[in-house]
Amino acid sequence: MLNARLAELTDHTFRRLAALLDPVQPRINLPPVNLSVGTPSHKPPPFVAEIVARKRDDWNEYPAYFGTSELRKACADWVTRRYKLPAGMIDPDKMIVPVAGTREGLYMAATVAVTPSLGGPKPLALMPNPFYQVYIGASVMAGAEPAFLPATKATGFLPDLDVVPEATWKRTQIFYMCSPANPQGSVASLDYLKKLLGLARKHDFLLVTDECYSELYYTPEPAPGGLDAAKALSGGLDNILVMHSLSKRSSSPGLRMGIATGSPKTIAMLNRLRAYSCAASPLAVMEAATECWKDETHVEEMRAHYRRIYAMSERVLKGRFGYYRPDGGFYLWLDVGNGEEAAKRLWTEAAVRVLPGSYMTRDNPDGSNDSHRYIRVAMVGDLESTEAALTRMAKLL
Ligand SMILES: Cc1ncc(COP(=O)(O)O)c(C=O)c1O
Repeated sequence: MLNARLAELTDHTFRRLAALLDPVQPRINLPPVNLSVGTPSHKPPPFVAEIVARKRDDWNEYPAYFGTSELRKACADWVTRRYKLPAGMIDPDKMIVPVAGTREGLYMAATVAVTPSLGGPKPLALMPNPFYQVYIGASVMAGAEPAFLPATKATGFLPDLDVVPEATWKRTQIFYMCSPANPQGSVASLDYLKKLLGLARKHDFLLVTDECYSELYYTPEPAPGGLDAAKALSGGLDNILVMHSLSKRSSSPGLRMGIATGSPKTIAMLNRLRAYSCAASPLAVMEAATECWKDETHVEEMRAHYRRIYAMSERVLKGRFGYYRPDGGFYLWLDVGNGEEAAKRLWTEAAVRVLPGSYMTRDNPDGSNDSHRYIRVAMVGDLESTEAALTRMAKLL
């Protein structure tokens, strides 16, 4: 009676984490610190609350799924500024749609890109391994077969595009790329992104770049993105759909606000689907999001905050657990030998909650999986509590 594809989506990251840690309690009397989830704990810019409070009585209007024109314009202006795009390259009404969090856009993208096969092999959805769970959910439900590209230390924590067989590219209908990557914090170079977009065009699949962490970069230059690649190649935004989010940029995951940027054709199809399916964000939220995209001051403060956090983590952990300082994001990806065992010990013996790396992955066909060795540490708390947690971790493991 129910959709058989759902049977493939049984082991979501956070359910597995709850099953591992909820039955046991810390055996130590210390304040628990939760570093397992990527929820930023510092405050969004104050104008967000002011705008929502001002509009507190405005609930009698349906919000449009394609956003307000002010919001679309603020989004188009932001991507144009951020990626130094030629003026007018991004038409706010045809090439932008505000999504209810990039999670929604990432999910819908697979239904837009994938035509399920009627017999014969399924189309492929390529994704890095480890991966953000929405990629697999979206791909499976759209009728694609997920194919995982190892993004390990040996490959610079990015999928190695050169080892993908030609036959795989031919079956590919969607490729999810995450940069800066969750969990490893690796940032794809402009050359890498150009190559990937070239492959998307050669084999006519949709490249979806998940740039949820785009503003959390620690390199001298801003992290390159899919729009840099599209600018460098001719062909407009053909075969690429780029996702940006306010969740980490403005520490406001509660707003559920992101941007999908693509060619007029892709955005029209995404909107066709969303007209039937999407829960648009409230108008008050759209207005607050409009102001967030216009402002960079709070984003610079946020980057400075994470720089301090990373400097502290280097002091506490350098030389241990394969510590490296990522180019982007707010995670540490630590090689602790056995991630699941370490997560359990950290919770019971140090009251620190982290995520076993394997919970974001699938094993390779030969059963191997590097990520079993790792834990992901989300450094989303304040400096003091995060330092206390990392210090406990360094002592214990
Ligand atoms: C890699 C990645 N992509 C997308 C998202 C979803 O972000 P949003 O809050 O915009 O839905 C997350 C959230 O943690 C993420 O880690």
